[in-house]
Amino acid sequence: MDRNDLHTKVTMAFRARFLREPELVIRAPGRINLIGEHTDYNEGFVLPVAVDRAAWLAAGLRQAPEAVVRALDMGGDEIIFPVNRTAASAGGWGDYPRAIVWAFLERGLQPAGLEAVLASDVPVGAGMSSSAAVEMAFAYAWNVFSLFDLPRAELALLGQRAENAYVGVNCGIMDQMISACGQAGHAMLLDTRTLEYSYIPLPKDIAIIVADSRVRRSLAGSEYNVRRAQCEQAVRLLREAGLEPVLALRDVTLKQLLDHAGNLSPVVLQRARHVVTENARVHATVAALQRGDLETVGALMKEGHLSLRDDYEVSAPELDLLVETAWDVPGCYGARLTGAGFGGCTIALAQAQAVEELSSRLIARYTETFEREPAVYVVHPANGVAAQ
Ligand code: GLA
Repeated sequence: MDRNDLHTKVTMAFRARFLREPELVIRAPGRINLIGEHTDYNEGFVLPVAVDRAAWLAAGLRQAPEAVVRALDMGGDEIIFPVNRTAASAGGWGDYPRAIVWAFLERGLQPAGLEAVLASDVPVGAGMSSSAAVEMAFAYAWNVFSLFDLPRAELALLGQRAENAYVGVNCGIMDQMISACGQAGHAMLLDTRTLEYSYIPLPKDIAIIVADSRVRRSLAGSEYNVRRAQCEQAVRLLREAGLEPVLALRDVTLKQLLDHAGNLSPVVLQRARHVVTENARVHATVAALQRGDLETVGALMKEGHLSLRDDYEVSAPELDLLVETAWDVPGCYGARLTGAGFGGCTIALAQAQAVEELSSRLIARYTETFEREPAVYVVHPANGVAAQ
């Protein structure tokens, strides 16, 4: 079902490199997020969808306590590093498997030696969780080969820990959880405080169209960590102002926030307002999906985009143009940026028969304005990480 030619590609490359059959071929998906942006590190709610773009890993055990990994894209280079101690960061894609080993070791678990070939069709740095996909592919491989038997949610937490502490991006848990636990045909409503989740069926006759602006901005050391710090500051200030019990912005209602507006700086208030209203939009979107009210889903996506643009200030002119173009196309319910922002992708939700018109308008307007083409394609809700 989710197999594609990357399965063949990594298998053949594994044979050529290691002169045997891989013991496992693993697929770990990227994701889009329908709504619930920048809520996960505020212990709030998210509604992501695992998609049919994925990292693929052909893998086998290696006797020596080391990992030999070849990447077919991303420069096609090969790395070797020890698995019985922490390998120093060397940047690039290789830091994800190194980080996963580090995180297993930190938990007192000794990963087995590994040989592997990696390929991915999740666009890198585009807000579709290419890194979480790579992390989950390796975490899954080591979980099987080392007989750890950790449940999927634990692999997700391990990936997040690896990314926070080893790679240095202070991300939340959304991307790893959806790559680990996604379900074909469904979005996942995730409570990022408790990690409880439920699957929300998506109508079969709607299309999710991704428009990749091809604007890239690395998350590490960027505005992402600044936003996170501003949210933490909001929580501190609200508590100092006597609002209890507030452990995270998840616990704050819009009324409470507005009642305490004077305690926050204008920027911190804006950031908090986005998070508080976005959490409400996640619940409203789920309710609308459950009653088949796609018009309302689309309106909420639009509100969410405006909030990310104006209050959270993580959009970009390229993303604004793509969503504004989509909003005007008949048969398109709604559109918004997806992922962290600062570049990357937008998503649109549309009737299947509107896809062609929508794609050509997105390409035409974007190319005319920015003199380069966006990548526009339909994605399908897929399963979480698994051996294929
Ligand atoms: C990135 C992070 C996620 C989440 C989103 C924004 O994808 O990895 O944890 O914070 O940004 O919603």
